[in-house]
Amino acid sequence: MLACFHKEDYAKGNNFIWKADMQAYSYLNSLWQRGKDFLGVDVPILAGAMTWVSERYLVSAISNAGGFGVIACGAMEPHHLDEEIRETKKLTKRPFGVNLITLHPALNELIEVCIQHRVSHIILAGGLPNAESIKAVKNAGIKMICFAPALALARRLVRMGVDALVIEGHEAGGHIGPVTTSVLAQEIIPALKEVPVFVAGGIGRGEAILSYLEMGASGCQLGTRFVCASECRAHPKFKQAFIRASSRDAIISPQLDARFPVIPVRALENEGTQKFIEFQRQVIQQVNAGEVDLKEGQLKIEKYWAGALRRAVIDGDIETGSVMAGQSVGLVDKEQPAKEIIEELIAQAIITIEMREKVKIA
Ligand SMILES: Cc1cc2nc3c(=O)[nH]c(=O)nc-3n(C[C@H](O)[C@H](O)[C@H](O)COP(=O)(O)O)c2cc1C
Repeated sequence: MLACFHKEDYAKGNNFIWKADMQAYSYLNSLWQRGKDFLGVDVPILAGAMTWVSERYLVSAISNAGGFGVIACGAMEPHHLDEEIRETKKLTKRPFGVNLITLHPALNELIEVCIQHRVSHIILAGGLPNAESIKAVKNAGIKMICFAPALALARRLVRMGVDALVIEGHEAGGHIGPVTTSVLAQEIIPALKEVPVFVAGGIGRGEAILSYLEMGASGCQLGTRFVCASECRAHPKFKQAFIRASSRDAIISPQLDARFPVIPVRALENEGTQKFIEFQRQVIQQVNAGEVDLKEGQLKIEKYWAGALRRAVIDGDIETGSVMAGQSVGLVDKEQPAKEIIEELIAQAIITIEMREKVKIA
């Protein structure tokens, strides 16, 4: 039985009558048992790390609700990460992970901080990790999770000793790859059985989680859906932007000229997006006129969004800041406790299973 589950009728609007169905529970449990064992939680739903958003309060709330919270290290210095882990541990006794960016100049020190704190899981994001980082994590007995953007890379990561994979599709919030979640799932899940696979990107409801579990996933990772958790310390304006937005507002950062590639990031379209287009136009003109060289132009474009996520999440500048959000933002319509969000996701999965049983009986 799921420890955190409440028998509430979440689907009243659809005229379903809630009835606790032990068969449905056991079926769901059997589907995600591998994920539960791997993460050491009741509910193998990871709240994907979100820089500036995934800090001690959100992370502990997710873990206390039975899910798996993940601290986003982002650009934190080692002493900041040390403090964040220490404070998170005061708020929860349950497992949580730490997400580190491979490009961080102090990656080795950050791994050392995690080792000192005996963090159970490290999630390495932002590119293929090097063998040295993997070795340091594994030697410390920490479970290592990495992102796999394609089957060949997934296989390579497994050979390198990674313990589990997250496959994250194009619909997700933040930095994204070119392939959708549904296609990545079909490419990787049936072909890769060696390690647990968690699916991320565009997931906002329990029915979708159930479908990926039935394909063979061990659990799912959601980011956007957890931004409006009451415990999340993001600025109220940031949360309001999520509640107001529809799926189509979460767009990929525009790129005007192939000579100046823009790292694809999904965020809510705002004044900042328009200014970014104008800025690129100016840089292109300067380069074409020979006033600025190609390299300098590229650097200028790369630096445009520096500090913009912090401005949006912490200061509430949702006009010119970077309001990173996935397409599932259209499914976020209110602020609610993390526990309630997790219970709702489980209820949606359970109701789907129960309804099948009813159809079979009829
Ligand atoms: C505001 C925001 C910031 C994010 N920051 C990070 C990050 O620092 N590291 C990371 O690996 N993923 C980051 N992500 C991706 C999430 O961890 C998660 O994988 C993604 O949100 C899942 O897709 P969804 O948004 O469709 O639920 C971020 C996403 C958002 C929305």
